[in-house]
Amino acid sequence: MTRHFLNLADAGGDAIAAMLNDAMDRKEARKSWPKGKTDADAPLAGHVLAMIFEKSSTRTRVSFDIAIRQLGGTSIVMDSGSMQLGRGETVADTAKVLSRMCDAIMIRTDDHAKIEELAANATVPVINGLTDLSHPCQIVADLLTLIEHDKALPGLEVAWLGDVNNVLNSIVEAAGLMKFNVRIGCPESYDPDQSFITAAQAAGANVTVYRDAMEAAAGADVIIADTWVSMGQAHADAKMEAMMPFQVNDVIMETAKADAVFLHCLPAHRGEEVMPSVIDGPQSLVWDEAGNRIHAQKSVLRWAFDQI
Ligand code: CP
Ligand code: NVA
Repeated sequence: MTRHFLNLADAGGDAIAAMLNDAMDRKEARKSWPKGKTDADAPLAGHVLAMIFEKSSTRTRVSFDIAIRQLGGTSIVMDSGSMQLGRGETVADTAKVLSRMCDAIMIRTDDHAKIEELAANATVPVINGLTDLSHPCQIVADLLTLIEHDKALPGLEVAWLGDVNNVLNSIVEAAGLMKFNVRIGCPESYDPDQSFITAAQAAGANVTVYRDAMEAAAGADVIIADTWVSMGQAHADAKMEAMMPFQVNDVIMETAKADAVFLHCLPAHRGEEVMPSVIDGPQSLVWDEAGNRIHAQKSVLRWAFDQI
């Protein structure tokens, strides 16, 4: 059966744990090599990854491109605006054509239903490079970063502050799969997606919503923030005002554990969701987190090709 990676649950907790180990091993094996050099075993030699972007991207675009090259394969990167997809060719037809020309498809799009339709019509793996609903590849990199910094996942207290969005949904999903807890600090009337929370709670994770940022951050091992205006959303002054008490600043970091770390998927907006003293400070892991996108993507690709 074709392995699609639309959400973390498509792989499951055991596979994600194996992916994280694989990512660490492969990262170590090529330490200090040039980024474009192929891994010694070239496990995806000859494979072509098609990438479709319906939204902007720096990290996802570059990390998948480098990832497939390091695994021995090649890529074709397309913006939907320059494809027939952007002129109305259907997602289903695009899936059928690309399945005959490429070995896997990574897509960044808006409506999650589009990636489900792509997967339903593709005979090659389809990987979610972000939808309005979720961003699973980002969270594989986040988990890798935490483990590398001695934050064992089971029982970890992860605090998310600010807007409730695609990245949060995948963190909550990961909590259920990897057995950590999420403390969500968000304003009234900005309610996180209940279906992800219900699934994580059913799997044994504690997921709690706080309307006070300090309560959410109290005693946390990890503090995470993301933009208050996700791609495709309109800027709204009322929302920015509502989010301001959930800004990650020095007071929030002092409320967390003394050895707490800070994550942000980037791009960041200093002075909005996070202050420069935090994101550019000693507790921030954001650059390792961004760099780990390559290693995470490689393990996602290897899982999709049944190598993990
Ligand atoms: N974090 C992330 O997905 O970054 P890009 O939007 O640059 O791909
Ligand atoms: N929540 C953000 C993540 C960007 C990587 C967005 O969707 O724009």
